[in-house]
Amino acid sequence: MAVPFIQPESQVGPSTLRHDLDLSADQLIGLLNLTHQVKQSRQRFSSSLKGRYVSLLFEKPSLRTRMTFELAIKQLGGDCVVQVGPIADREPLKDVARNLARWTDAIVARTFTQDTIEGLSQWSGIPVVNALSDLYHPCQAFADIFTLKERFGRLRGLKLAYVGDGNNVAHSLLLSCARLGIDCAVATPAGYAPDTSIVAQAEGFAEASGSVVETTTDPFAAVRDADAVYTDVWASMGQESEAEERKRLFAPYQVNAHLLAASGTDSIFMHCLPAKRGLEVTDEVVESPRSVVFDQAENRLHVQKALLLTLLQ
Ligand code: CP
Ligand code: NVA
Repeated sequence: MAVPFIQPESQVGPSTLRHDLDLSADQLIGLLNLTHQVKQSRQRFSSSLKGRYVSLLFEKPSLRTRMTFELAIKQLGGDCVVQVGPIADREPLKDVARNLARWTDAIVARTFTQDTIEGLSQWSGIPVVNALSDLYHPCQAFADIFTLKERFGRLRGLKLAYVGDGNNVAHSLLLSCARLGIDCAVATPAGYAPDTSIVAQAEGFAEASGSVVETTTDPFAAVRDADAVYTDVWASMGQESEAEERKRLFAPYQVNAHLLAASGTDSIFMHCLPAKRGLEVTDEVVESPRSVVFDQAENRLHVQKALLLTLLQ
């Protein structure tokens, strides 16, 4: 089973999760440690959020994030209310945020823009969890890093290769990998690279942690010696009108048996899901013994329980 994570230097909890960097590297390690405990013993934390209520807001569709947050809150003894649809179409965001803060103890929000997350946080004054925005998907990256630790028993010195669109998932993986000493190579078509300022931030973290950040247009260069090969959809939610053009441009970036064979000998395949089989990944790879996609999905539940405990206790 999982080896315990190295002890963080600081135990001071964060107050919100607008993006990955609201947790320091030490706090992230603390979160991963707590996730390990939560996963080991569901009963131990079953009343921890008794009497606590969380607002769940979804501007975009979700299976994993919605189900795992609802289950996480309920398994911790709390409860939630859910709204699906635009967050601030009937009234200003600052009014929505202040209403929610009068009724509930935290907000979990999936939004089209990062600005909506920032506004909810600024105006509510209660913990806000980014459940995916245009720029970040921190809960996904934290669950993915936990999955890597379970699989390999270590993080430092691993190499993760992300192949496909330089999107929200790629951004969060870059930031979290670089801070924890995991090498991260990102291969995208020209024009679809991750945001340059996020790459620059990740490079700074990598220098401090002794890891390497690499961006390239060559998927085979990216996966060389990789312990994990990761991909995500080529057209994210909100980019549906670009899907056809992207299919053509991204075709050389498909994760198939040939590309996976060019990675490390014991490499695993990762995907945040939902996957479009036949596009960014073949069915054969998703269904192969190397695939850990359902471990990632399961770990969303455990890591989000640990996150809620950290923010609300
Ligand atoms: N991976 C992920 O966030 O899945 P959903 O879009 O189903 O929530
Ligand atoms: N990049 C994808 C992730 C889905 C979980 C999107 O934003 O739609």
